[in-house]
Amino acid sequence: MDVWSYTLEGYNAEDTVINGNRFLIGNGYMGYRGTMDEWGRAELAAVNLAGLYDQNGDKWREPVNAPNGLFAKLFLDGKPVSLGETPALRHSQTVRFRDGLHCRDTDFGAVRIQSVRFASMAEPHLLASRLTLTFQKSGRAELLCGVVTELWDINGPHLFDFAYRRGPVLLAEARTGELSVPVAAAQATVCDFPRGEETEENENGVFRRIRFDAEPGTAYTVTLLSAVCTGLDGPEPGERAVFLCETARAEGFESLLAAHRAKWETLWQNSCVELRGCDEAARALNASLYHLHSIAPRHAGSLSIPARGLSGQTYKGAVFWDSEMFLFPVFAHTEPELAKSLLRYRIDTLPGALKKAAEYGFRGAFYPWESQEGGAEGCTDYNVTDVFTHRPIRTYFRDRQIHISGDVAYAFWRYYEITGDTSLFLEGGAEVILQCARFYLSRAHSRVDTDKVELLDVIGPDEYHERVNNNAFTNMMAAHCLSRVPALTEVLAGAAPGYMDGLIEKLDYQDDLRLLRGVAPKLCPVFAEGEVVEQFDGYFALEDCTPDTVRSRLLDEREYWGTNHGVAAHTQVIKQADVIAMMALFPSLFSAGTVERNWRFYEPRTEHGSSLSSCMYALTACRFGRSDLAWEHFLKTASIDLEGGGKHWAGEIYIGGTHPAANGGAWMIAVLGFAGLSLQAGELTLTPRLPPQIRSLRFTAAGKQITVTHDGWTAG
Ligand code: BGC
Repeated sequence: MDVWSYTLEGYNAEDTVINGNRFLIGNGYMGYRGTMDEWGRAELAAVNLAGLYDQNGDKWREPVNAPNGLFAKLFLDGKPVSLGETPALRHSQTVRFRDGLHCRDTDFGAVRIQSVRFASMAEPHLLASRLTLTFQKSGRAELLCGVVTELWDINGPHLFDFAYRRGPVLLAEARTGELSVPVAAAQATVCDFPRGEETEENENGVFRRIRFDAEPGTAYTVTLLSAVCTGLDGPEPGERAVFLCETARAEGFESLLAAHRAKWETLWQNSCVELRGCDEAARALNASLYHLHSIAPRHAGSLSIPARGLSGQTYKGAVFWDSEMFLFPVFAHTEPELAKSLLRYRIDTLPGALKKAAEYGFRGAFYPWESQEGGAEGCTDYNVTDVFTHRPIRTYFRDRQIHISGDVAYAFWRYYEITGDTSLFLEGGAEVILQCARFYLSRAHSRVDTDKVELLDVIGPDEYHERVNNNAFTNMMAAHCLSRVPALTEVLAGAAPGYMDGLIEKLDYQDDLRLLRGVAPKLCPVFAEGEVVEQFDGYFALEDCTPDTVRSRLLDEREYWGTNHGVAAHTQVIKQADVIAMMALFPSLFSAGTVERNWRFYEPRTEHGSSLSSCMYALTACRFGRSDLAWEHFLKTASIDLEGGGKHWAGEIYIGGTHPAANGGAWMIAVLGFAGLSLQAGELTLTPRLPPQIRSLRFTAAGKQITVTHDGWTAG
């Protein structure tokens, strides 16, 4: 098995949506779905842009899809040749993980269409594709290439006032509806055979018709180069896109491809985890890292990654806690500059978090549950639609999933712990931590009879139980956040004398400082050795049953399990790791025996209805020395996008796409779980617990080549 690529033979119309995700290519600036060259809106072809959002009327705000400048459709003797419409004798689609290439090879009998496509890692605005057409018999061929402006949108349209330019480079320009941000996509073509050409524009875009007399056996090669630029990148994006296409054409496909490959190679140098012993797992792990690299915003110094990456507009293109908990750890260990960029996004969006807290009557920073640009909250009060009544259901993720602020603060602290670098604190990270702590101070309640501090009416990671009191995970994150303020003061006293004093002064924080010293210990849940931690007050009194029992009660398979009357709400069945997630994040607080007891209690009660769940169970199983129990969770996590797994619906809302958190989770299980890597200020230790299926793991950490086998580990 080639562990560096994935190929699907044959065509099945039902897999079109999944394949769009599975075969996605991207470079952090944009994602291009794994669709055929000749496909369009109906097949969900999309060029999904990072960081540019738009709201149409009162529909959900979502990221913008750019016009598709890699469109090319063949007509043979006047008839369209298109997969799905035209019967194919053979068809295969491949994604190559090592160098980020998408390949298709379709034999329609009369003509064979092959194409190789990439989103340049070297030039983030550039997409390139090379089509090779080989004919069986002579005929009149016409290739319609161009920039398609008829776009797939979930809550669109988002682009208006289209203007086209024809000439050697085709250009489509438009503006977003809400903020009038210009978006431009250009296309240049290169053909090396005699042909006739003409250009045209219509309501679907701007096109070039390339006509030629096809000779049997001859391979006709057409190169398409497309550049996408927006007003967020700088002035005159249209001119810029045309210029980039012209430059790319002058450079040539081979040279562009070489630069793209070279960049991918450097990415793998630090991040590759060579897994020996199980090819299936090795390929899934490569695929996971491939997807992470494809969506990592290297072009920006401050941007994070949406929960469905750049695979489309699902989940409103929003950034969740997934970024801090599942993506940040990978980059903090392999590419710290990128990890910084993810956290800078939280520094830059602090104003949004302050505003949200104030809107709810709290102080400090309450980060959005679904963060869009500028820290705008994308999560609505009605985030799920009921499958029976078709009415929106009131969900409380936006207002009650308050662990998000603690998660953000946790990641800032982890960055410092892993790298020993305090610079992010000084860039604004310290202020983020102080403002998150302030939020919890204003959100907590003090109980007069027990002198305990409580967080009431919250939602923990397990979203099936809404509005609960004292969710252990949430209390723990909040307590940790509060305790980071004195810890930070201590660290910065040496690294940046006077900085904290200035900050405390600036934020008028003296009273909060006094308050939080007393509050943190009273809020922190108390854990007795060997005991099962109750997920929230009253959880143990709920009906004790399994996910299968709950599933058997569903009246519709798309029915939402959560909310007050959801099938899981009155049971102990949980959506995803919650107490176990807490144990994964705070390993030093729980003995292996305690983790194992909790694992054995909660695992059979967990639906794993989120792709974030299995990773936490796998990591904790490694901690108590049972990597054999982790193995299935690892495979499930790592292969989610190859298998087209994960949930596709929450009630009536489509939530499909790629799963970056699981991609990051796969790396975490392999490196932090199986290899047991721990980096503290750049110093590494390893506690390997390889499962029997893995013979060895090789990866780079702290500049050293690490090899882990069942006999131990070496660092060279
Ligand atoms: C999970 C959340 C997660 C979100 C985005 C939801 O289904 O419950 O924990 O942040 O998906 O991945």
